[in-house]
Order: sequence, then C-alpha cells, then structure tokens
Amino acid sequence: MLCPTSPHLALLALLSVAGAVGPGEPCPSEMNLIKDRLQVNCSGQGLSVVPLALPRNTSILLLSSNRLASVSTAAFQHLPELAELDLSHNALGVLHTGPPLPLLQELVLSHNALGVLPTLQGLPALTRLALAHNNISGGAIVYGVDQKAVPTCNLAGL
Ligand SMILES: *[C@@H]1O[C@H](CO)[C@@H](O)[C@H](O)[C@H]1NC(C)=O
Ligand SMILES: *[C@@H]1O[C@H](CO)[C@@H](O)[C@H](O)[C@H]1NC(C)=O
Ligand SMILES: *[C@@H]1O[C@H](CO)[C@@H](O)[C@H](O)[C@H]1NC(C)=O
Repeated sequence: MLCPTSPHLALLALLSVAGAVGPGEPCPSEMNLIKDRLQVNCSGQGLSVVPLALPRNTSILLLSSNRLASVSTAAFQHLPELAELDLSHNALGVLHTGPPLPLLQELVLSHNALGVLPTLQGLPALTRLALAHNNISGGAIVYGVDQKAVPTCNLAGL
C-alpha cells in the first residue's frame, strides 16, 4: 500500500519549496564558505530591475542571466558590504557609475551589450573587471580619473 507520508513525497515537497522564489521574494542567500561572505543568488530569475529586498550584509551578489538592460551603482546603495557583483549574461547597454560602492572588488560584466567601457567612478576598491563578450571595439582602453589602482581588465575570460 502506498503510504502518503513516504520519504520520497516529503523530499519532493521540500525541493519544490526550496526552488520556489516568486517575484518580490528575496533571492536565496547562503554563506560562501570559501570566501566567508554572505552570497545572494538572483541569477536566472528574469529580473529587469535590481531587487530591493536583499540582506543588508550581502557581500556577493549574483545577478547573471537576467534581463537587466541598464544598471546604476545607485541600485546597490542599500548594500554597504558589497564586494563582488556578477552582472554577466544580461542585456546591459549602460552601466552608470558615480554613487559609490566603496568595498566592491570584483565586477563581472561579461556577455552584455556594452558599447563603451564603463567609467569606474566611485569604485575605489575594484581590482577585477570582466568585460568579455560585449560590443566594445578594441584598442582604446582608457580609465577615468581617480583610479588609485588600474584594475586587471579581463577581456578574454569568463
Ligand atoms: C547577515 O545579517 C543577518 C540578519 O541580520 C544575520 O542573521 C547574519 O548572521 C548576517 N550574516 C553575516 C555573514 O554577517
Ligand atoms: C544560482 O541560481 C541559479 C538559478 O537557480 C542556479 O542555476 C545557479 O547554480 C546558482 N548559483 C550558485 C553559485 O549557487
Ligand atoms: C555594436 O556596435 C556596432 C558599432 O558601434 C553597432 O553598429 C552595433 O549595432 C552594436 N551591436 C549591438 C548588439 O549593440
């Protein structure tokens, strides 16, 4: 006889709850044990805007494979500890910088539609910038003023 409380049924129920993150609900977050940082995963959720309901102590934010077409660093001002931001595989034509992200070290912009290199104002801690697979014509890699350290510019990888 089939038992309605079979462990398989219970497991299936758990899995579907874990996978259910509807619009407006926060993205799943977990400790990144290697980096010892809080990592929030909003990848592949069809987002066209940066969600507001994120933990204030988010340190790694994954926003890849969404539908973001235009992003400003203003959208992350509620995340003062943000250190890594992955915006790869979106439709970014523009990245507005200016509103500071003082701790941001890593910015991944690969697989977007950027036509020009973003200015890197307000990103004093940036050490890694990934820009592969955009629409930036080669040659003129010129960084703006105020850059203490020239970031490692990864145009090939990722
Ligand atoms: C982040 O904040 C939440 C809620 O305030 C807390 O429970 C959690 O321990 C914090 N995580 C880290 C890594 O600081
Ligand atoms: C983030 O979430 C997406 C979609 O659910 C999943 O495919 C991906 O493996 C997750 N990435 C990490 C690093 O957990
Ligand atoms: C890439 O740039 C070229 C030259 O500026 C432009 O003609 C083309 O439409 C751009 N493609 C995309 C996908 O933005």
